[in-house]
Amino acid sequence: MNTKKLAAEQAVEEITDGMTVGLGTGSTAYYAIEKLGERVKEGLQIRAVATSKRSEEQARELGIPIVPFAEVKRIDITVDGADEVDDNLELIKGGGGALLREKIVAARSDRMIVIVGENKMVSTLGQFPLPVEIVPFAHEWTLEALESLDLNPGLRMDGDQPYVTDNGNYIADCRAEAIPDPAALHAKLNDIPGVVENGLFVSMAHTVVVGREDGSVQTLRR
Ligand code: A5P
Repeated sequence: MNTKKLAAEQAVEEITDGMTVGLGTGSTAYYAIEKLGERVKEGLQIRAVATSKRSEEQARELGIPIVPFAEVKRIDITVDGADEVDDNLELIKGGGGALLREKIVAARSDRMIVIVGENKMVSTLGQFPLPVEIVPFAHEWTLEALESLDLNPGLRMDGDQPYVTDNGNYIADCRAEAIPDPAALHAKLNDIPGVVENGLFVSMAHTVVVGREDGSVQTLRR
């Protein structure tokens, strides 16, 4: 069962004529953009902004109108994936490296709909390594600061070079084991000079659509 596709297609049903839509990034968001492209071909009138170069490219290929950020005051709905979702609908995102743009777009959105397969649901965040976007300048010091929070950071690599985000930054993947208080950790991380943003999305998801192995879809609301 393709649980990602199931959740993605259900979420796209929420999008109606006249909306401004935020397009997420990742393998689940891919299915949402694909479905949205079909609906646009059938006549759905929307405009969109994208959270990554690859989502923007996919949208343009499908004929989804992408507008400049300067032309958008509010986004009606953003549809995006997540790496983990806890019992309080808090999220870890950024496995695909797009967390900064994803957070900027989510923060402008009246509704953020998160689409996941049921394997992403956890009671407490932290099994999935938490991505933290850091600036390349003196990144060794930033990694040390993350280390001092007992986060066991690892610089994400792309072959033998550091992985570089769409914003020209690096990613430190942090292993916290358990994150019982995402808001507290979020604040500590963003207080470190050199940290641009982190992958904890606290109080941002309004709705989580979960695709299940039995073919059903569950909608959880904040
Ligand atoms: C991209 O940076 C991420 O936040 C993705 O949204 C998240 O990692 C989920 O990705 P998949 O849908 O590919 O699992």
